[in-house]
Amino acid sequence: MGTVISFINLKGGVGKTTCCANIAGELARENRKVLVIDADPQANVSTLLMGIKRYFRKFKNEKKDNEIYKETIYQIFLDALEEDVDKKLFNFDNAIIKSVVRKTIQGKETHPLTNLDLLPATYHLMQLEQKIVNYVRSRFAILNRFLEKIKNQYDIILIDCPPNIYTTTHNSLYASDYFIIPTIPDYLSITGIPLLIHSLNKTIEIKMEEKNSSVELAGILINLLDKRINVHKDGLVSIKGFLEVFKQENSVNNDAIIFESKITNKVDIKNASGKYLPVCVDSPRSSSTMEFMNLCQEILKRISK
Ligand SMILES: Nc1ncnc2c1ncn2[C@@H]1O[C@H](COP(=O)(O)OP(=O)(O)OP(=O)(O)O)[C@@H](O)[C@H]1O
Ligand SMILES: [Mg+2]
Repeated sequence: MGTVISFINLKGGVGKTTCCANIAGELARENRKVLVIDADPQANVSTLLMGIKRYFRKFKNEKKDNEIYKETIYQIFLDALEEDVDKKLFNFDNAIIKSVVRKTIQGKETHPLTNLDLLPATYHLMQLEQKIVNYVRSRFAILNRFLEKIKNQYDIILIDCPPNIYTTTHNSLYASDYFIIPTIPDYLSITGIPLLIHSLNKTIEIKMEEKNSSVELAGILINLLDKRINVHKDGLVSIKGFLEVFKQENSVNNDAIIFESKITNKVDIKNASGKYLPVCVDSPRSSSTMEFMNLCQEILKRISK
């Protein structure tokens, strides 16, 4: 049964998408069967893994909206709101993009990560908040109901969440076994973490009541680290302090960690994203690939407990 992990932070631009895509790439390279789910209407992880041209070819403006919905996560939510069984249109096999990453070598398109599939999103997902207002029946359990049906096809399912704590984030959390909070270790990025933890806890409690099943904080992932600057050193100390307080007040599970493997601010990560590739495909021998490799080992160890 696949383990589901969400990448969540209310703060934008901390590297949720970059870490999700690169961890997915590394795990797939290590022969894990991986599904990435895009739960963000910005569709960043979809474009990062598909490439912008392919993304716009697939979801071109001339296509009817409801044809586009069917090929994205949005249809899962629309189906939940639909009473009429004949109008439920989501078909997982048609919607996912198998072996999503493509790399052109000497003019020939290759699939360097055959184990990595994507369930994409488009900006239409933004409409969900208005549509779902009057839907009361387990509003946050929709994605989980769907994932329960397909989980066994994957080793790991990673969900890239938007920088907010609205419906798709709560659904992702509810559907997860673990969540990871990527953050930059600076003041502005970390001050929101207590609010984030407290906002997520209600959904974790609801899942426990409804399913008798937990969602644990796997850990806090330090990204965009610059070891030379003191604010980042201070930031790390503050994050450790926060985590201890959360544990004392039982707001997080006791075995939540700050991952030892931190991801530094590196141009090769940006360059790889610019070529729509995980860094392990674009520059397999780089120090960034090493960092993600070590991080993946830690994540695998953490979730195998
Ligand atoms: N370790 C890194 N080294 C260099 N650049 C990075 C790194 N991590 C992220 N970035 C860059 O920082 C920017 C923000 O990253 P990303 O989009 O992954 O953040 P996010 O948290 O997903 O944002 P959002 O909240 O909008 O979803 C991007 O331009 C990305 O390329
Ligand atoms: Mg993002």
